[in-house]
Amino acid sequence: MNTAGQISRIAVITGGSRGIGKSIALNAAARGTGIILTYNNSPEQGKAVADEINKKGGKAFALHLDSANISSFDNFAGQVTQLLQKEWGRKDFDYLVNNAGIAQRSLIKDTTEAIFDQLVDVNFKGPFFLSRKLITLIADGGQIINLSSGLARFAYPGVAVYGALKAGIEGLTRYFAKEYADRKIRVNTVAPGAIDTAFGGGKGDEAHRQQLAGMIAAGRLGEADDVGVFVASLLSDDSRYVNAQRIEIAGGIMI
Ligand SMILES: NC(=O)c1ccc[n+]([C@@H]2O[C@H](COP(=O)([O-])OP(=O)(O)OC[C@H]3O[C@@H](n4cnc5c(N)ncnc54)[C@H](OP(=O)(O)O)[C@@H]3O)[C@@H](O)[C@H]2O)c1
Repeated sequence: MNTAGQISRIAVITGGSRGIGKSIALNAAARGTGIILTYNNSPEQGKAVADEINKKGGKAFALHLDSANISSFDNFAGQVTQLLQKEWGRKDFDYLVNNAGIAQRSLIKDTTEAIFDQLVDVNFKGPFFLSRKLITLIADGGQIINLSSGLARFAYPGVAVYGALKAGIEGLTRYFAKEYADRKIRVNTVAPGAIDTAFGGGKGDEAHRQQLAGMIAAGRLGEADDVGVFVASLLSDDSRYVNAQRIEIAGGIMI
């Protein structure tokens, strides 16, 4: 049982080694959710997040995943299946959070095919094929959460492909919700605003940070925990009637 008195659930969180994904993992674990998080280039950080959860009395494991390497997803699904069986005595899990992502700032005129393809692979193609692969392991009544961005709603120079792909993820959210409704799997989008992580090299110098803060009703950049605590709250029966929605966690940016 978790703190809300519910039977413990299990979440797979991609990109749980740092930033927002780490916060989602820590906050969901604090609510009693079992965690399988993934890392790509930061194995130590990924394992450290799992260790931190386990030390606090939760249950977490860290696995390698490169969202751009679709041919590795069979193997990844096999590892998840083994963990579920061995550690929880289950064949399925409850929540998939497609959080892993990258940014590559470049104006449209400077965007090469290589930059374009990398953004597509990690931010769009990967989440599509990973969701399709893992949905067979998600219990009926489970949930997928896709991380989008405020940049899918408004335009900001230098992130055209990224913003358009996040808009695409929001479309996929609705299509997955439609096609898997027969299994009562809910699919929602969480769209963070300007969150103070290392994402895309961070939020720049003080002048740029002030400029961003000036666009936000809350008057400050967001912290990873502003998003993590909210996503963790969605990963529960409290959100049982929320489906195919986009929820922006941005302190009121560009309103
Ligand atoms: N920060 C923001 O302002 C902001 C705003 C809107 C939306 N978002 C979205 O929120 C999500 C998380 O962002 P964040 O700020 O937490 O970023 P972050 O601090 O840079 O963390 C990115 C995470 O994604 C993982 N990752 C990167 N490339 C990967 C790949 N090819 N395969 C698998 N995992 C990969 C990283 O793992 P390793 O370190 O192990 O490689 C890391 O755990 C992203 O989807 C991003 O688009 C962020």
